[in-house]
Amino acid sequence: MKVVGGSASVPLARGIAKEVQGGFVDVAFEKHRGGFPDGERYVRLLGSVAGEHVILVQTSHPDPMIVELLLLADAIRDAGARRITAVVPYFGYGRQDKRFLDGEAASAKTLAKHIAVNADELLTMTIHNPDLLKSFPIPSWDVDGIPALGRYLKGVDVDLLLAPDDNAIRLAKTASAICGKPYDHLEKERIDSYTVKITPKKLDVRGKSVAIIDDVISTGGTIGTAAKELRSQGARRVIAACVHGLFVDRAEANLKVCDDVIATDTVQSPHSKVSVAPEIAAAIRALG
Ligand code: R5P
Repeated sequence: MKVVGGSASVPLARGIAKEVQGGFVDVAFEKHRGGFPDGERYVRLLGSVAGEHVILVQTSHPDPMIVELLLLADAIRDAGARRITAVVPYFGYGRQDKRFLDGEAASAKTLAKHIAVNADELLTMTIHNPDLLKSFPIPSWDVDGIPALGRYLKGVDVDLLLAPDDNAIRLAKTASAICGKPYDHLEKERIDSYTVKITPKKLDVRGKSVAIIDDVISTGGTIGTAAKELRSQGARRVIAACVHGLFVDRAEANLKVCDDVIATDTVQSPHSKVSVAPEIAAAIRALG
């Protein structure tokens, strides 16, 4: 087995290679130092993949990483790989999981169709709507990234896990079972892409350390608003924890109210403090 990582996911790909005891194939991402002036992507495999089962790891965010993913899949197929498993740790466009309005693209399916040109199967992690995977043209599975956060939270000062909305309750429940801390939830209403309203709810958080847990942090609006509510109720410490940390726009400013921000390495950032390599490696081994 060989593992190849796109430039969005090199550290994670190395971690997966170590876990599955596969060979790591380096990739050159620049033809000339500084890349192409027009921003186009370039990939070149620096090792052989002929006859191999290749694990191609690349998060599909931001958009140029999608191009890299498709270029790499093509290069790997053309280089004679026997089987390609695409691992897309954060599936960008996963939230446009259907045609909400006439004339829209069902973007997640569009992406899957293009990945399926070369990939034989697909693994992703904590996708917005796992049912979506049933409509993909190749066998596709969702791997749960929350256990990695649960493992991490077990070793830190946390008294309570908190889901910022109904959707995240199952995430807090899973993490709670792993780290052995209780969980509760808040009620959130989304006003627009940048603003959410958290309905005040009396929680027993005075003097406690609380970890707010969500699948995605994008602008930090959700967790930042929840953290302010916890502060006003006397929480001693507030930790923001997510699987996919996109940290776009004013996220860093919105999260300043938190004492710590923890994300996994599905999207690489300075907050990637926990690796999901063990979870993804276990899923690869289960494929057989
Ligand atoms: C929404 O359904 C998701 O679970 C997250 O709560 C949301 O994507 C977070 O976005 P933001 O950080 O921009 O509030």
